[in-house]
Amino acid sequence: MYRVVLKATSLAHEIVKKVVEDGDVVVDATLGNGNDSLFLSSLTPNGKVYSFEVQKSAVDKFNNIIDEKGIKNIKVIYDGHENMDLYIDKKVKTIMFNLGYLPGSDKTVTTKSNTTLEAVQKGLKLLLPGGVMTIAVYIGHEEGQREAEELLKLISELDSKQFSIMNINFINRNNAPFLIVIEKNDSFREDI
Ligand SMILES: C[S@@+](CC[C@H](N)C(=O)[O-])C[C@H]1O[C@@H](n2cnc3c(N)ncnc32)[C@H](O)[C@@H]1O
Repeated sequence: MYRVVLKATSLAHEIVKKVVEDGDVVVDATLGNGNDSLFLSSLTPNGKVYSFEVQKSAVDKFNNIIDEKGIKNIKVIYDGHENMDLYIDKKVKTIMFNLGYLPGSDKTVTTKSNTTLEAVQKGLKLLLPGGVMTIAVYIGHEEGQREAEELLKLISELDSKQFSIMNINFINRNNAPFLIVIEKNDSFREDI
């Protein structure tokens, strides 16, 4: 059966698939096990994926995976996404965030509201007009609640002429992750 009501991470893939074309430069802001990076890599074989992660073990593990698979279009960066502007000097078509902690690993290494907000703001500058940012947000833990509140406040204040933004929620599930989708409008202007 073809399902249309999907969990946040799967829905993010469906949306990103419509936007990314081969040759595009894209960002996975939270590498973790690398599912989103591998997905992005498959959408732009001749482009480039920048993937950020603060856990060395995850970086090493994923570098081994891409070496074994012979994947050349992913650059893994062992640094926080809040520093993405230091590594990327081109505009990008999409940026995926999958917030929270990596299931099965150290739960104290979770994304945090201050660095997430900084990364989202920097990411919005790096996005091409017509580009899309997806943010899967987890509210089932304390830091996640704070992060979600601050993130929603930040993005609800963005100019609607510059950005179109949706918040996609399950309304009959408790604490289900939700998905924020931010499109930088085609008419975006740097100077206003
Ligand atoms: C929910 S997991 C990501 C799952 C991943 N997208 C996947 O496909 O497996 C969130 C990840 O963000 C990482 N993280 C936490 N703070 C970060 C930061 N400031 N910059 C980049 N990654 C961060 C965590 O270590 C964790 O691996």
